[in-house]
Amino acid sequence: IVNRSVPDVCATCHIHATCHQTEGKSVCICNYGFVGNGITHCQDKDECQIGASKICGNHTLCHNTHGSFYCVCLDGYQASNNNKTFIPNDGTNCTDIDECEEPGLCGRNAGCVNTEGSYKCYCNDGYKLENGERFFHPDENMVSCKEIGCGSPPEMKHGYIVGNYSLLPGSAVRYKCKEGFYSNEGMFSYCTANETWEPDTLSCKAVDCGVPPSVSNAYPASVSETTYGSEVTYTCVHGYFTVSGNRTRVCNAKGRWDGTDLVCKEINCGKPLLIPHTEMIWDDSTTLSSRVYYRCKEGYYSVGDRNFSECMIDQSWENITYICK
Ligand SMILES: *[C@@H]1O[C@H](CO)[C@@H](O)[C@H](O)[C@H]1NC(C)=O
Ligand SMILES: *[C@@H]1O[C@H](CO)[C@@H](O)[C@H](O)[C@H]1NC(C)=O
Ligand SMILES: *[C@@H]1O[C@H](CO)[C@@H](O)[C@H](O)[C@H]1NC(C)=O
Ligand SMILES: *[C@@H]1O[C@H](CO)[C@@H](O)[C@H](O)[C@H]1NC(C)=O
Ligand SMILES: *[C@@H]1O[C@H](CO)[C@@H](O)[C@H](O)[C@H]1NC(C)=O
Repeated sequence: IVNRSVPDVCATCHIHATCHQTEGKSVCICNYGFVGNGITHCQDKDECQIGASKICGNHTLCHNTHGSFYCVCLDGYQASNNNKTFIPNDGTNCTDIDECEEPGLCGRNAGCVNTEGSYKCYCNDGYKLENGERFFHPDENMVSCKEIGCGSPPEMKHGYIVGNYSLLPGSAVRYKCKEGFYSNEGMFSYCTANETWEPDTLSCKAVDCGVPPSVSNAYPASVSETTYGSEVTYTCVHGYFTVSGNRTRVCNAKGRWDGTDLVCKEINCGKPLLIPHTEMIWDDSTTLSSRVYYRCKEGYYSVGDRNFSECMIDQSWENITYICK
């Protein structure tokens, strides 16, 4: 039986309210997530207002929705239900993600430390950051771990490193010159406190033998280089021939020209050939290109093409056809 004089309360409920029967009366009550008198207003209740950590738990963000809300973990945290969003009443909480489980996160020569909600990187032993900091985060700093020390030592031109050395400040590298080279400067480079090698340019000079020795009756071929390994070749002057010694001399590592002086002797053809029935017209010269003339004695006449013979390079007189009849 409906009492028509009583207004239908349920018909007046707000759209976000529901009609409930209590003690024989109809009452409009705002739905879950809404607050108000149930008739003229049912406003969305901002559950997040009381604070994300209170309602969603630690390390969360709270998002209010029309009539409800949901929770999201902060960056670096993961919901224990493995979902992006959750409602806290199912026991889900946000736990720290161990970012360091991802290999290589910190890059070369570095290690990783997990922190609450994040992580940080440090350089391995023997390495350091250029900015002097102890820790870095690869997303924030464009830094890398550099080996502590001076790096590889400078090379010495015409030289080489002897013995062992370390790259740490305070250590030294010892050099030697290659054979035939020398240096009047220091033979060390030092790793300084600011991690540079000093000096960083080192070089050895080639040993120089200087002007080739002068050899009597011989001359050297024009010499362009007189340093270690250079060669010079001698030739006897015209009219002389090689008796002993070295034609080629080599500049040695000690700065001397290897070998012995060339010995050049003047060409000597000796006594000219005797030709029957002739007399010689000769100045007694027996050197290269000396000439002896022949003339038939009185009462003879000559047959042949030439009346003279020359002293030749092989130290013999030319064989001529000169016949006196
Ligand atoms: C939230 O963090 C506080 C302080 O670290 C701690 O005392 C509390 O137990 C935490 N709450 C939950 C639900 O883990
Ligand atoms: C993850 O979220 C979806 C939808 O938001 C829900 O259906 C599911 O039950 C959730 N899973 C867990 C393990 O809570
Ligand atoms: C978070 O949730 C996990 C899994 O439900 C649970 O084992 C752990 O004890 C919870 N931690 C806190 C602090 O409530
Ligand atoms: C040699 O022969 C040439 C001509 O063939 C002659 O003129 C010259 O006088 C000769 N010399 C001697 C020394 O007889
Ligand atoms: C000179 O020539 C003659 C005739 O050709 C020859 O018999 C003789 O052996 C030659 N002598 C020399 C030293 O060559």
